[in-house]
Amino acid sequence: MHIMNHRQIFFQSIAQTSPFPLSIEIADAEGIYLTDKAGKKYIDFISGINVSIIGHCNPTVVKAIGDQASSYMHTMVYGEHIQTPQTRLSEFLKTILPSSLDNIYYVNSGTEAVEGALKLAKKYTGRHEIIAFKKAYHGSTAGSAALMSDSTHTAVSAPHVPGVKFIEFNQINELEKITNRTAAVICEIVKAEAGIITASAEYFIQLSNRCKKTGTLLIVDEIQTGCGRTGTWFAFEQMNIIPDILLLGKAFGGGLPLAAFIAPKSIMQCFSYNPILSHITTFGGNPVCCAASLATLEFIRDRHLTETVTHKSDIVKATLSGLEVRICGLMAAIQLSSFEDVMKVCQNCMAQGVLVDWFLFNNTSIRLAPPLTITEQELLNSLNIIRTQIYNL
Ligand SMILES: Cc1ncc(COP(=O)(O)O)c(C=O)c1O
Repeated sequence: MHIMNHRQIFFQSIAQTSPFPLSIEIADAEGIYLTDKAGKKYIDFISGINVSIIGHCNPTVVKAIGDQASSYMHTMVYGEHIQTPQTRLSEFLKTILPSSLDNIYYVNSGTEAVEGALKLAKKYTGRHEIIAFKKAYHGSTAGSAALMSDSTHTAVSAPHVPGVKFIEFNQINELEKITNRTAAVICEIVKAEAGIITASAEYFIQLSNRCKKTGTLLIVDEIQTGCGRTGTWFAFEQMNIIPDILLLGKAFGGGLPLAAFIAPKSIMQCFSYNPILSHITTFGGNPVCCAASLATLEFIRDRHLTETVTHKSDIVKATLSGLEVRICGLMAAIQLSSFEDVMKVCQNCMAQGVLVDWFLFNNTSIRLAPPLTITEQELLNSLNIIRTQIYNL
């Protein structure tokens, strides 16, 4: 009988999402580094797509996970038992969020946070129209997928959840499409998968005002931008707006699956009646994930990591000067001219031990999102490798 190695099993038995997965066989992950089975080290310059914000296997997070796992793991479906990892995490969040965002619904993944928020907005307002932005990505399950304007991605799952309208980002005249029939507008402050595209504070203020005027809830998706990535705990703070519902995920779980939608209690409480159990989840708010999240957020606070982002962002700008770069804090896109060039740069950087990637809706740009814990020297060395691969094209 032929015994397959793990690489063969991966290609034969694990569902593939593309014809060219990175297929690094992971042996170990520590700090900014991944190590493969052959002992080759790679700098994870994309943080596992904006997840490992304080690097991999941070010892304080690993300890928090171990301590919690040895105390208790799953005890009951979400919302029934009082679990201190959940309450402690919500107490921490209170210290970094506006006072209106005082009620947290924990879920397992970003797309579930989106689904929960859409349902909450519909139930609370009694309306069913949702407005989303062209070329935004909010997840792959039915409700989130209906928020994708890009027909090459949506055609596969038609017919879609109805009631979604799309508007152009950063165009004030489009805001009049938000009316008193609109339940919610869902937006990112930095459209991540479109390739790091943001809008002016003035635009976001007008968006927020239009939502207030029409009784529409403003859902802000900070699944990629949250937890310090852009230099403040949340990117909305830089735009002088306060969301009605805030979505967190990715880095929020500290390397474990955790996401949340956060709203004023006056809005969230409509899930507990008419009918009761309007929205439920088995694993949402798993205590081990909440412990990992809290340890991660405390680490970011105690090491003042958000305050280091602006300086590191300046290093990225200076080192990549001469290239077309879009940047917000420590998330950036380098614009190249073709997908072939992007593929070549990604492959050549990987050969040099630096992992970069492209974006779902922009495959002519290189994605950069290193852990916030990267040192200035490591940042410089990696950027020099990336820049050299681009100049060698
Ligand atoms: C802005 C944004 N929202 C939502 C999601 C969906 O998150 P998940 O993959 O955890 O379902 C993503 C994932 O990339 C995202 O970037």
